[in-house]
Amino acid sequence: MGGKQTRIIAVANEKGGVGKTVTVVNLGAALNKEGKSVLVVDMDPQFNATKGLGVDVKEEMLTVYDLIKDTASIKASDAIVPTRWKGLDLIPSHVDLAGAEVELVDEVGRENRLKEALESISGEYDFILLDTPPSLSLLTVNVLAYAKEVIVPCQTHPYSYDALDELFDTIFTIKENINPDINVTGVVATLFDTRTRVSRRILEKLKNDDRYKDLLFDTVVRVNTTIAESAGVGKPVIFFRQNSYGSSDYTSLAKELLTTR
Ligand SMILES: Nc1ncnc2c1ncn2[C@@H]1O[C@H](COP(=O)(O)OP(=O)(O)OP(=O)(O)O)[C@@H](O)[C@H]1O
Ligand SMILES: [Mg+2]
Repeated sequence: MGGKQTRIIAVANEKGGVGKTVTVVNLGAALNKEGKSVLVVDMDPQFNATKGLGVDVKEEMLTVYDLIKDTASIKASDAIVPTRWKGLDLIPSHVDLAGAEVELVDEVGRENRLKEALESISGEYDFILLDTPPSLSLLTVNVLAYAKEVIVPCQTHPYSYDALDELFDTIFTIKENINPDINVTGVVATLFDTRTRVSRRILEKLKNDDRYKDLLFDTVVRVNTTIAESAGVGKPVIFFRQNSYGSSDYTSLAKELLTTR
């Protein structure tokens, strides 16, 4: 077991398309560039984080699905795959993960499967970043039962802002019932478009809302087509095009995260 003080961070929001996966992949890469060792755990059956890190899931590869299905005989270390970037590793996901939901339903302690599976690697990384699906599924609950911190990406759009309330309720319920150690580290405004009034208005609301203002990261992630392009070629934006808004925004977010706690 390694001796690191691993920060275990879930990136969560029940709303879809708000930048969870992009944040996991690019924050992970930016932390790695800052010299930190990072493990990304892809807990979404859409496996976009896996693709975003350029990993092709092959038949014989173990995924997070195998891990939570069979915590007794499969070791977490066997499911970890390296990416092309040293110190940035991944536990991949697979469409089969969607089935885990059904298979775990009747099992005792089903919400602690991921935690049990990953206990053996605690201390091996500086950061473990967990991507979640856009729903409060059993998979998301497994992530929130294990994580110590949550980063909440909030798209600068009214629907996303309105949904924050419910998300915070969910996290509070988890804290009360399953995982007293969990706390929200920060809310990050994403998909910010300076040219649109709606983006600016929602950012102002976040900055002035008593519920969120102390949690809001100073970094605002701007809309940047390079981010989408880099996902398409399976590379974090920082390694794809260092001179881009995407690269500088996620670098700045990583630096901010390193100063919190
Ligand atoms: N800052 C950005 N600039 C441009 N495009 C972005 C940015 N952030 C995310 N996107 C794009 O927006 C879409 C949604 O982003 P992402 O997949 O990260 O959201 P998500 O919250 O993980 O979605 P889901 O809930 O489906 O998992 C993707 O096509 C992604 O490439
Ligand atoms: Mg996603």
